[in-house]
Amino acid sequence: MDDFYRDFILDHYRNPRNFGHLEKPDASAEDMNPLCGDQIRVELQLDGGGKVTDLRFSGKGCAISQASASMLTETVKGKSLEEIAKLSKDVVLENVGIGISPTRMKCAMLGLKVLKSAAVGELAGWPDET
Ligand code: FES
Repeated sequence: MDDFYRDFILDHYRNPRNFGHLEKPDASAEDMNPLCGDQIRVELQLDGGGKVTDLRFSGKGCAISQASASMLTETVKGKSLEEIAKLSKDVVLENVGIGISPTRMKCAMLGLKVLKSAAVGELAGWPDET
């Protein structure tokens, strides 16, 4: 693994950005990786036009799941719910910057899955899952 990217991932794992909870989130979702039981929760604060003005994530899991969720929170601040709902796994792969083995792919994508559920749920008017 490239040292720069390994250090980048470890830095996000050890010092996760936007970690914690919002006082009154407008949307949220939570899910787990069924293979290991690790969990991630995402909470979104929205402006009147449906853009993310602030967000937090929380949970527990391996370095790649937590680091990729941390990176995602920085990527999507300021994006609309529609933009988030359309994100593909490429955004995670670009953030992480290294090849992800098939066995770690579910780890890397957990944050994206939860983030997209929060956005899609809000767009559809579903009540928060949690
Ligand atoms: Fe659980 Fe990676 S081992 S999310």
